[in-house]
Amino acid sequence: MKAIVTTRPLPALEPDSLIEIERPRPKASGRDLLVRVEAVAINPVDTKVRASVANVDGVILGWDAAGVVEEVGPDVTGFQRGDEVYYAGDITRPGSNAEYQLVDERITARKPRTLSFADAAAYPLVTITAWEALYERLGIDRHGADAGKSLLIIGGAGGVGSMAIQLARLAGLAVIATASRQASRDWVLSLGATHVVNHGEFLAGQLAKIGFPEVDFIANFNNTDFYWGVMAEVIKPLGKIVGIVETASPVDLELLKAKSATFAWEFMFTRSKFQTPDMGAQGRLLEETAGLIDIGRIKSIVGERLEGISADNLRKAHQRAESGALVGKLVLGGWA
Ligand SMILES: NC(=O)c1ccc[n+]([C@@H]2O[C@H](COP(=O)([O-])OP(=O)(O)OC[C@H]3O[C@@H](n4cnc5c(N)ncnc54)[C@H](OP(=O)(O)O)[C@@H]3O)[C@@H](O)[C@H]2O)c1
Repeated sequence: MKAIVTTRPLPALEPDSLIEIERPRPKASGRDLLVRVEAVAINPVDTKVRASVANVDGVILGWDAAGVVEEVGPDVTGFQRGDEVYYAGDITRPGSNAEYQLVDERITARKPRTLSFADAAAYPLVTITAWEALYERLGIDRHGADAGKSLLIIGGAGGVGSMAIQLARLAGLAVIATASRQASRDWVLSLGATHVVNHGEFLAGQLAKIGFPEVDFIANFNNTDFYWGVMAEVIKPLGKIVGIVETASPVDLELLKAKSATFAWEFMFTRSKFQTPDMGAQGRLLEETAGLIDIGRIKSIVGERLEGISADNLRKAHQRAESGALVGKLVLGGWA
């Protein structure tokens, strides 16, 4: 099978940063599905791993895919050959930038019926992240018990922000999303954000001006260290904050003490990496999201497309992701 790999850290557009090779097609065992990959999406994790790989055999990146089940392992109970699926996969295993990929059935779901493979591939990684961040780490009740409470989303127009805005609105929250450009402002408003503030300017002052000097919840999808002080300042007493981006330097936990504020990490690969007993929750949340997409309650988060999965297009996709100019997700469909 064709596989696109990285062997050493190089700038995205260098011809050798991502190269196409032949790899033996894997066989499904245990609870694995062998999926024929039809479309993939790019995430910051791809560029972060590419920047740190040193492996002469090459590492297959890609943690968002949609495709067709080709073969099932002997212990699989929920899927059969021919099922159309979508999933993010597992950071400890080869990724989706290959014609075939093994994925555990527990972190996989049937893809939304109404979407093409490319449109479906946009969702899994950011959906799992946003769902776990909001509904699990922040404990927001998705059936409406927290309706009317306020959520500040830092980095609203990114992939994770695009899903978080929609999941928070489904729960009835007031959503203040940050966006720094006209295109990203328009994007967050189109997804349902009730207010927009600019992360390029002083956040506390802007929040006070729009009537939210403090907020019930904060979901920070950007620099954890940089926003630590302002998060401590604008979180309500007993409020909750979730972060998803690794810290570059230590943060001062003491700043949250007087308010008894909670800080929680969200890492969407935790369940698959540690094979937690509840890892099937990810398959179920993807299944539920597919249903919400099919009835029109969740909008498209595709911002850009490239036709054809190839080393050349993946290099372009990495470069776009690193440019910081994307809104929503970049997807690649079909094999070039
Ligand atoms: N822990 C996890 O499980 C997990 C999962 C997914 C992602 N992540 C991490 O979370 C981060 C976001 O991921 P993503 O997929 O949403 O990324 P993304 O799509 O690349 O995010 C792009 C967005 O970031 C915004 N942004 C740029 N500079 C910012 C700043 N200084 N403050 C606030 N927002 C800023 C931009 O908004 P403007 O254009 O408006 O400036 C842009 O829309 C990445 O670091 C990623 O690695 C972690």
